[in-house]
Amino acid sequence: MQSALIEKARGIQRKLPIQEIKKFGIERRRDDYFLNIAYPSLQAMDSIEPEVIVHTIPSVGNRIALYLHIPFCTRLCYYCHYYKVFNAAQALVEAYLTALMKEITFYSQAFGGLKVESVYIGGGTPSYLDPDQMKRLFEHIRRHATINSGAEITFEMHPESVTLERLKILRASGVNRISMGVESFNDTILASENRGHTVDEAIRAYEAIVSAGFENVNLDLIYGLRHQTISIWEENLERMRELKPISMCAYYLRVKTSTPDAKLYQSGADGFPSEEDLILMHIMTFEAMKEIGYEQLIVDWFIRTTEHFHKYQDHNWRQTDRIPLLGLGASAYSYLGGIQYYNINDIAQYIEWLNRGKTAIWRGEVLPFDEKMRRTAVLGLKMGIDRQDFRSIYGVDFCEQFSSTTK
Ligand SMILES: C[S@@+](CC[C@H](N)C(=O)[O-])C[C@H]1O[C@@H](n2cnc3c(N)ncnc32)[C@H](O)[C@@H]1O
Ligand code: SF4
Repeated sequence: MQSALIEKARGIQRKLPIQEIKKFGIERRRDDYFLNIAYPSLQAMDSIEPEVIVHTIPSVGNRIALYLHIPFCTRLCYYCHYYKVFNAAQALVEAYLTALMKEITFYSQAFGGLKVESVYIGGGTPSYLDPDQMKRLFEHIRRHATINSGAEITFEMHPESVTLERLKILRASGVNRISMGVESFNDTILASENRGHTVDEAIRAYEAIVSAGFENVNLDLIYGLRHQTISIWEENLERMRELKPISMCAYYLRVKTSTPDAKLYQSGADGFPSEEDLILMHIMTFEAMKEIGYEQLIVDWFIRTTEHFHKYQDHNWRQTDRIPLLGLGASAYSYLGGIQYYNINDIAQYIEWLNRGKTAIWRGEVLPFDEKMRRTAVLGLKMGIDRQDFRSIYGVDFCEQFSSTTK
């Protein structure tokens, strides 16, 4: 017998114009496209002279959103598409931190001091750092940048590296938002994705974070994983009712070519939910989260109180031509004064370039005015577009600008 949630979601699914969508050719197979995280994407970029960017810096002001990439993990989760290296020795982690600190110092000088509106430390797994490394990193940031009081400071953690000692350092360093990957509340699925933790361990890690005084905690889940049935996905949503984190990201599985999941998917899609079931899981998520008391703010992101609205995301996706994004570390991307650029995505080269007194800037493009508006439109697909805001930034109406595509 199916639950009331599944029944309701199936009712909604039946009314969706899926056949029409197929006719227009909008429907995509999960493995033949990839959702852009940035625009324009790395693949569309050529090399860029770092001087072009450095010369632009004085014109953008020094209020920024700061992203730092920590590319270390203990194992390869089969779905994961982020840049990372595994089980790095301490010497490599130290060399990376030293290079990252040099990059922070370089930009602080180039900007004439940084005023940081939001900080996001992501990965990889930032909690791979040991407590002393975390402490030194934050001390360095604060020596070279002023983090505005009240700024959101997010740190990503993996359940296996949530320890009291790390949590204490993060609190003392001013971190006020923790985002932790759980991905599934099912032990079989966790094992088949090579997550390296159990459901119980993830719950204990979440409880430790809350007990350490972090109110604003986000949990990541993924739907569409191998062996994930509709009822298993429903159990995940039920866990949200029990745990009630401030926010939850429910990502659908993005099948990126380089990942083990892509190989498994291409070898027959065996064990992966069908496209129809993916849509059903999507609808179930909206319905269940609404019922539990969450609001959907971004396409895959649900929040319990608007007071904890994710400011870095807002800066990154919606305020993109107001608050420059400075992304540091191997593979990080930035958007400053209309230039989208990417750092080198190789940790050895990153360290070497910084040690030689160079920047890590690798590929990028100065966007013409109309491309800046297109960028805002593309990023807006995820978080929405404020028409008035758009007019005040670009001096034109969004719908008029894109009239041929908005009809
Ligand atoms: C950098 S990881 C989070 C922190 C930590 N490394 C961990 O795994 O617990 C960022 C998140 O991206 C999501 N993610 C990674 N690869 C994905 C994929 N192919 N499809 C959907 N979500 C993905 C996962 O939910 C993951 O928690
Ligand atoms: S999901 Fe997290 S822990 Fe797993 S490989 Fe990706 S970044 Fe590393």
